[in-house]
Amino acid sequence: MHCSFLFTAFVVFLSTFGSVTCSSSFTWNRQSFLLNGEPYQIIGGQMDPQRIPYQYWPDRLYKARAMGLNTIFSYVFWDQIQPTPDTWDLTGRNNVAEYFRLAQEVGLNVVLRAGPFVCGEHEWGGFPAWLSEVPGMVVRSNNAPFMNASKAYIERLATELQPLLITHGGPILMAQIENEYGSYGADHTYMAALRDMFNDAFGLPLYTNDGGGESYLIGGQIHGALAETDGSPQVGFAARDQYVTDPISLGPQLDGEYYITWLDLWASNSSYQTDVGSASSIKAVQEDLSWILTNNSSFNIYMFHGGTNWGFQNGADWSDSLTPVTTSYDYGAPLDESGRITDVYSALRETISSYVAAGSIPPVPKQIPPIQIDSIEVSPTLALFDFLPQPISAVTPTNMEALNQSHGFILYRHTVQSAISGTLETGDAPRDRLLIYLNGKRAGVIDSIYQYPQTVTLALQPNDVLDILVENMGRVNYGPRIPDQRKGIVGNVTVGGSTLMEWEMFPLSMEEPPTPQARLDVKDPVSSGPVFYSGSFDVDTLGDTFLELPGWTKGVVWVNGINLGRYWTVGPQQTLYLPGCYLKNRNNDITVLALEPNANQGAIRGIQTRNWGNNPDPDAP
Ligand SMILES: *[C@@H]1O[C@H](CO)[C@@H](O)[C@H](O)[C@H]1NC(C)=O
Ligand SMILES: *[C@@H]1O[C@H](CO)[C@@H](O)[C@H](O)[C@H]1NC(C)=O
Ligand SMILES: *[C@@H]1O[C@H](CO)[C@@H](O)[C@H](O)[C@H]1NC(C)=O
Ligand SMILES: *[C@@H]1O[C@H](CO)[C@@H](O)[C@H](O)[C@H]1NC(C)=O
Ligand SMILES: *[C@@H]1O[C@H](CO)[C@@H](O)[C@H](O)[C@H]1NC(C)=O
Ligand SMILES: *[C@@H]1O[C@H](CO)[C@@H](O)[C@H](O)[C@H]1NC(C)=O
Repeated sequence: MHCSFLFTAFVVFLSTFGSVTCSSSFTWNRQSFLLNGEPYQIIGGQMDPQRIPYQYWPDRLYKARAMGLNTIFSYVFWDQIQPTPDTWDLTGRNNVAEYFRLAQEVGLNVVLRAGPFVCGEHEWGGFPAWLSEVPGMVVRSNNAPFMNASKAYIERLATELQPLLITHGGPILMAQIENEYGSYGADHTYMAALRDMFNDAFGLPLYTNDGGGESYLIGGQIHGALAETDGSPQVGFAARDQYVTDPISLGPQLDGEYYITWLDLWASNSSYQTDVGSASSIKAVQEDLSWILTNNSSFNIYMFHGGTNWGFQNGADWSDSLTPVTTSYDYGAPLDESGRITDVYSALRETISSYVAAGSIPPVPKQIPPIQIDSIEVSPTLALFDFLPQPISAVTPTNMEALNQSHGFILYRHTVQSAISGTLETGDAPRDRLLIYLNGKRAGVIDSIYQYPQTVTLALQPNDVLDILVENMGRVNYGPRIPDQRKGIVGNVTVGGSTLMEWEMFPLSMEEPPTPQARLDVKDPVSSGPVFYSGSFDVDTLGDTFLELPGWTKGVVWVNGINLGRYWTVGPQQTLYLPGCYLKNRNNDITVLALEPNANQGAIRGIQTRNWGNNPDPDAP
């Protein structure tokens, strides 16, 4: 078998301490995973390629190996790979095959978590938005349209990954089927059909991963796949052996997601989750991982490195209202969002070192500090309402997916025919955040994340123009009783109970910022609708930085055409990660969409130490 070392920086280490092998079999018995017949303890961590600039993959993978990990667990986000039914994109951050090749070069094995549903705090758990419009579609079920769409994706992925499977000398050891399906359903015909699909496509050992409780395990376990749990290892391991009786599904224990900390949600009341700086929390993590290692079991640290929900890729939790995940997926992970080691990293490296052969863990690379950018000048260059695409006209509003749009915004416009007044209702529920304008002036905000009813009352006169700018804040990836996931307006718009007919709809997917040629002067940015601000800046030294927009309310930032994600004063995220690999020395182009421009917007800057925190929601009633 052929193992190449293209990544020359590591060759010295690997030839000195040599641990890369050209493996060809992965199996297990009741007690142990077996790699080429030898017991193999998975010392794993989760790191999803699609959340990391591909330019930084070698750095992040090397740092995983340097913490002592021997295996990387990786989700694959289907929606990014098949953005429309007829198009595939396996380039850039979606080139997962390249990521796994790089993993092998630094001596890491791979566990593949390809879904089709992955949860992962990603938009709809990885499902493409267009699934909503396929007739008869019932996701996460043994439903012909769903299985057919899933098969096309899984087969395409398997074609890409064939040379990287363990059976072909690659690093991919095994694959997970679905994700915590037992928290969602208990249809074994569905799990069996997926198992067969994975068997045909990959021919790899398979496992399921569920919460450590009876109903989760009974719902999610399937004959022919190893049953594993996540969460507390003590609880999960005991539950697995208690509730799973099928001998085929019993084998070595793997904590499929050992939660290092937790995810961050947009809301004034939600604080940044981290153990950094807390010696007692870090000690508790060390004790759990030591327990697993002593127990001859395996783990996947979730997350080893979280990365970023670039653009509009964040998912949302649901418990009677939408709680969207922040752009940052820092997760308080050992390697922070910008790929820098933390005290959690150092502590876990120490713990792992005491269980593996001396000298088998490569050295930790030197940390390069982020750069500071003192002030980035931007000016209001374009009012969104002056930059609208061709509208689509219809008697009643159309949802986002039916307009062949997955993300971003839609402006729904209605010209009033006869006087009408009362409370505004938009379809069956606000999806998700609505800015309401009357004749171009903001008349209110309705936001589905608020815990209390939020209403806007209007008094409309003939020829008034009512604009409703609807923002998709991310489809739900987790929660009981998950609602219909369509975005935009689903149903009719009423004022005082009367239905408004005849709409113009302007799709604003915002894949790209407006081109510089489109720039115009905005006379009165603070009292108009949303405004694009733009500018350009230079940096002497290329490096990572954290963009801060003090006093800005809410919006989206692009640098050199790359959508860095959402900002929102409510926090807990207060800065956007701007990787150095997205910068150049001269004429970096920045565009900010300010959804709610205000007079207190301070100078944008790049800071070296990011801050987290919450501010009151200026739109809360
Ligand atoms: C099945 O999926 C393929 C590929 O996405 C598609 O071309 C075809 O129309 C689908 N067929 C059915 C019956 O849904
Ligand atoms: C935020 O927390 C405060 C104090 O606990 C509470 O009164 C308020 O209702 C919370 N707001 C939201 C939106 O949950
Ligand atoms: C590992 O933990 C399980 C569950 O608590 C326990 O039954 C088993 O005896 C332990 N095994 C070892 C080798 O410590
Ligand atoms: C764990 O495995 C090793 C090697 O197979 C063995 O020597 C040791 O006794 C096992 N430990 C426990 C607690 O079973
Ligand atoms: C959406 O795409 C489908 C398939 O390409 C097409 O038939 C339909 O007209 C499109 N709808 C809109 C509103 O663009
Ligand atoms: C919207 O209103 C029209 C006219 O009253 C009605 O025909 C239609 O069924 C309504 N749609 C929904 C989803 O309620």
